[in-house]
Amino acid sequence: MKIVFINIKELLQIRDISIKKVAGKDLKILPSLKNAFLIIENDIIINFGKMTNLPNLEFDKTIDVSGKMILPSWCDSHTHLVYAGNREGEFVDRINGLSYEEIANKGGGILNSAKKLQETPFDTLYNQSAERLKEIITLGTGAIEIKSGYGLTIEAEMKMLQVAKKLAKNYPISIKTTFLGAHAFPLEYKKNRDAYVDLVCNVMLPKIAEENLVDFIDVFCETGYFSVAQTEKIIIAGKKHGLQAKIHSNQFTSIGGIQIAVKHNALSVDHLEILTDNDLNSLKNSDIMPVALPSCSYFLSIPYTPARKIIDAGLALALATDYNPGSTPSGNMNFVVATACIKMKMTPEEAINAATLNGAFAMNLSSSHGSITKGKKANLIITKKINSYAKIPYAFGSNLIDFVVLDGKIQ
Ligand code: NIG
Ligand code: FE
Repeated sequence: MKIVFINIKELLQIRDISIKKVAGKDLKILPSLKNAFLIIENDIIINFGKMTNLPNLEFDKTIDVSGKMILPSWCDSHTHLVYAGNREGEFVDRINGLSYEEIANKGGGILNSAKKLQETPFDTLYNQSAERLKEIITLGTGAIEIKSGYGLTIEAEMKMLQVAKKLAKNYPISIKTTFLGAHAFPLEYKKNRDAYVDLVCNVMLPKIAEENLVDFIDVFCETGYFSVAQTEKIIIAGKKHGLQAKIHSNQFTSIGGIQIAVKHNALSVDHLEILTDNDLNSLKNSDIMPVALPSCSYFLSIPYTPARKIIDAGLALALATDYNPGSTPSGNMNFVVATACIKMKMTPEEAINAATLNGAFAMNLSSSHGSITKGKKANLIITKKINSYAKIPYAFGSNLIDFVVLDGKIQ
């Protein structure tokens, strides 16, 4: 099946295959073509150019998108999309004055979600997660990472990952999975935390790796959660099973998570709301992708990741949702892009680069996703008629997506 899109007002994020991520000043540049065509064959982008150079070929379908723009689908590199139920009660508790930390200390938070997930049958968990996935597909996401971490027992962690795998089989969106057994300490390990770390490393991880359920390993490295030493132990155990790390770090405090992630060549380090100059220096001279999660900051009213500091230091930055029931009950990448511009002072070009190509990099997908490049996946967003792409973050509450294409098919 060969499809041609014609009269594209502006084709955004056109890149050479060799560009794997964008950093520093380059983030301000979003390469594009005005009045363009784009040809896809089956699930692959095969050609694009100026309308004046449209090749005289036979197409199975011609789609005239006059006045509309096309960009690569969003690449959401950090989510906890598979979860059971919700935590609306805690949301109201926070409105009434309790902090996220106080709620967690009362047995709420991650442990509350874990209890629900353990009690939820596979099919129910699958159906709830599929609803979320279907929604984010309509919102323009074409590649997503999904973490475990609301199971906290071997059975429940495997259930989460098997749900993610089944979603990957049944939906056209590209899915990468991450083992986050080290998300919180179950109550029964409160007094013997190292025993839980041992369980993660010596029981859960080998089983999950053996069943080929994951691509990456993650740890919530944070005061009150997993220490730097425990994080290092888990990263090393993951490496033995061929898993690269993606680490939750610096959400509330700076305790050395970045340094340990850099030391072990992690793929990404995510959150970074609290970032010291020493942390920033550690990120320089490394290939690690810093990932900001602005809708988490919005929802919890915590500081935003200092994007300007990171980018102006010459570093790369990716944007993701953190979709989860506690700190970010939203998988809307359009809102993430808008919030990054409005609250973190990223330019529209920087935010779109961060939410496409750099997001793909943070999932090890940048050779196939994240840009309009010959040979890459035909995962596309077709906007409504807009005058400039700055309208995407500007009109933060509007849905500016006309339709999406995943695996070369209109969804
Ligand atoms: O990334 N920070 C740790 N994990 C999630 C939130 C977990 C929860 O509250 O359920 C996050 O924000
Ligand atoms: Fe998270």
